[in-house]
Amino acid sequence: MEITVTVNDRDYVRDVEPRLLLVHLLRDELGLTGTHWGCDTSNCGACTVWMDRVPVKACTVLAVMAGGRSVRTVEGLEGGAGELDQLQVSFALCHGLQCGFCTPGMLMTARWLLDHNPDPSDGEIRESISGQTCRCTGYENIVRSIRHAATAERSPR
Ligand code: FES
Ligand code: FES
Repeated sequence: MEITVTVNDRDYVRDVEPRLLLVHLLRDELGLTGTHWGCDTSNCGACTVWMDRVPVKACTVLAVMAGGRSVRTVEGLEGGAGELDQLQVSFALCHGLQCGFCTPGMLMTARWLLDHNPDPSDGEIRESISGQTCRCTGYENIVRSIRHAATAERSPR
């Protein structure tokens, strides 16, 4: 089945099997391997991307469902000139990652949170990432990173 999907502001036309998942379209057909695939149970959240600006787990979405829609992946977080998103900077500064496997999903979820709530409480941050699993950090530095990014984005430059 032929679909046209916009990913990170670029249109792609692909002939896909109806059973193909969005996470595999992104990784295997489009080469966007920043979106990770960590489970077969829709639990880990490593595959989180935005579809029409709403976070979704890309392993729960069929590629054909993304036809005619707009998808943003972690590769689309950086600015046009290649500068890092503040969250990426804050995760690096605050040690918000170790192996990095969960990081793309964390970043996409946290970006959505800060776009909708620029000054979240720690409780709101923890709730927002409750669908993401990290096996390394104990979450503390992830919360610290998101709080750091929120503060930096609210500060006058
Ligand atoms: S790969 Fe999608 S939730 Fe784990
Ligand atoms: S940094 Fe390793 S799973 Fe989160």
